[in-house]
Amino acid sequence: PGTGYQAWLGYPSIASDKSINEYMAYNRLHVTEDDEVIQTAVSELSRGLEGMLGVPPTQAVQVENAIVLGTIGGHPHVGLVFVEHQFEDIGPEGYFIWHDNENQSIVVGAATPSGVLYGTFHLLRVLRMGASLENLTLVERPANKLRMINQWDNMDGSVERGYAGTSIFYKDSRFSEDLGRVRDYARLLASVSVNAIVINNVNVHKVESKLITEFLPQVARLAAIFRAYAIKLFVSVNFASPIEIGGLSTADPLDPAVRQWWKDATAGIYQQIPDFGGFLVKADSEHRPGPFTYNRDHADGSNMLAEALKPFGGIVIWRCFVYNCKQDWRDRKTDRARAAYDHFKPLDGKFMDNVILQIKNGPIDFQVREPVSPLLGAMPSTNQVLELQITQEYTGQQRHVFYLIPQWKEILEFDTYAKGEGSTIKLAASGALHGNPLAGIAAVSNIGDDLNWTGHLLAQANLYGYGRLIWNPELTVDEITEEWIVLTFGHHEKLMATIKQILLSSSTIYESYTAPLGVGFMVTPHTHYGPDVDGYEYAMWGTYHYADWQGIGVDRTQATGTGYTSQYLGPNCERYESLVTCPDDLLLFFHHVPYTHILHSGKTVIQHIYDAHFEGAEQAAALVDLWADLSGTMEAGLHKQVTERLMEQAEHAKEWRDRINTYFYRKSGIADGLHRFIHL
Ligand code: GCU
Repeated sequence: PGTGYQAWLGYPSIASDKSINEYMAYNRLHVTEDDEVIQTAVSELSRGLEGMLGVPPTQAVQVENAIVLGTIGGHPHVGLVFVEHQFEDIGPEGYFIWHDNENQSIVVGAATPSGVLYGTFHLLRVLRMGASLENLTLVERPANKLRMINQWDNMDGSVERGYAGTSIFYKDSRFSEDLGRVRDYARLLASVSVNAIVINNVNVHKVESKLITEFLPQVARLAAIFRAYAIKLFVSVNFASPIEIGGLSTADPLDPAVRQWWKDATAGIYQQIPDFGGFLVKADSEHRPGPFTYNRDHADGSNMLAEALKPFGGIVIWRCFVYNCKQDWRDRKTDRARAAYDHFKPLDGKFMDNVILQIKNGPIDFQVREPVSPLLGAMPSTNQVLELQITQEYTGQQRHVFYLIPQWKEILEFDTYAKGEGSTIKLAASGALHGNPLAGIAAVSNIGDDLNWTGHLLAQANLYGYGRLIWNPELTVDEITEEWIVLTFGHHEKLMATIKQILLSSSTIYESYTAPLGVGFMVTPHTHYGPDVDGYEYAMWGTYHYADWQGIGVDRTQATGTGYTSQYLGPNCERYESLVTCPDDLLLFFHHVPYTHILHSGKTVIQHIYDAHFEGAEQAAALVDLWADLSGTMEAGLHKQVTERLMEQAEHAKEWRDRINTYFYRKSGIADGLHRFIHL
């Protein structure tokens, strides 16, 4: 108790609620299939019902007064109900839940066992939310086919950009002995419909290269755990594996010996894991090996792996995070923001049909504020998935609260104009925009072995919300937020209002006291935590703000800058190109302007910087008081965890405020219009 370990899957007793009697009437399960995933659904439902009702459900002999779980083809009653009611096409992973008033039963049906599992978790959510079962009829199907989590776990036990302890998968270059934690993680993921996981970091070192050879038996054990929860397992592979672990002298994708090596290695994997998902690849990116070494392109590289996976139904997920990470800061022509599009767009149509390109939501790197990547939706003949980052690398590292769902909603609703108006990112991601057979969304996980999974308890909402949103991007931020709050903390009016307020204001607050107006990267090099305005200014990573005594920002226009704006289509291109229409919050991403430039808000850039930083730090401090007021509404342990983080955030926000304000006061020599104190 008080640890947060159950996350949103706790099932406290409802003995004193008015719904107890209604729910109790269904405490019997009617199941006829012994499929593994259906049995998972049964055990999840039993666990939930027992927690809430105090007694485990019994086995029902008749469908009356029972919860009926099963597939349309495997459970006769479910099949009958489906035919009688002609529920709209539910697809392979969708489900229906139908309350049968006559028989007093609840039928959860799907075409496949995974659909039954998702329907079961949905029913559990309905029960936990305290909804009435009367007239409960619904049909759901996922918008996205691939709903994936990427672990950035290394086998030494560290987690790249992990802020919640060490890996639950590995320790000291071996697999963890106790995989109970992995099973509990699978439960959390499946409960929000995640159906694929990559179990190791995209930066694959020597030891992880052996996941597809020497460590296969252990990988197979993990695959079995995830299989029971309908989650497919993938691994990140090292493009130079043929050299690194294969004893060859080259990894050239067009070399027959290299191609054969990958075919043999892949066949070996499928011998042990027949339903293996495939590979995730980071190539020619941040010093990782790739096809460029051999003067080949990314289609050559990915197609080689796709060919090896194809006979087994596997797929290659190939990342587009490819840019020159050895840039000279004096070179103002090269623009990292352009890189993914420039590298990949010309290759449209050259990828095999089991290759998917994985594209980060922004053109640079998961900053607090970036425009949407122009590559998304821009390759009609190529499968794409959108990559998000749940782990809060640049968004406060789970020491600051930063609720990501509003940002993701904005991204998904963004109109690319790729096929005229209405060509939103959500349609590009789902594949519906261009009719791509493989598509979806992936995100970098935010969990580790901290007891509460995510370090900051409120960061659990990001993992929860991610899953809900990728199943159904139409869900509103409010709906997702309210669900998470009730499932995690229970029903309580004040608690609901306050936590909602904290979450919904959190990203704006963080944005206020960190890098201004979309400029990004004013962070401590390497750790990416805390302010360092010039930390990356003379480095080779291509992340500059160009602040001088007169102004700040990156000129990415076609007229006078790097021409990045030309990668956008339709009205977006002109909107970003022109100072008149460029939105304030992205101004410095697209333009270099004087500090005295007047924003749409009516303020000058410099005054905006001062105001945002003073106000942001104040608002961060106010979060501590808001939370303090919730003492007594939840278990003391939970309350304390968040108090500690919010206090740290409030202190750290002051550091951000002062560093940024002082920096720009020193550079510009322009005083704060409101005469607040700025250190010199
Ligand atoms: C960021 C992050 C790296 C990561 C990289 C990637 O640059 O800081 O740690 O490896 O993204 O997505 O590959």
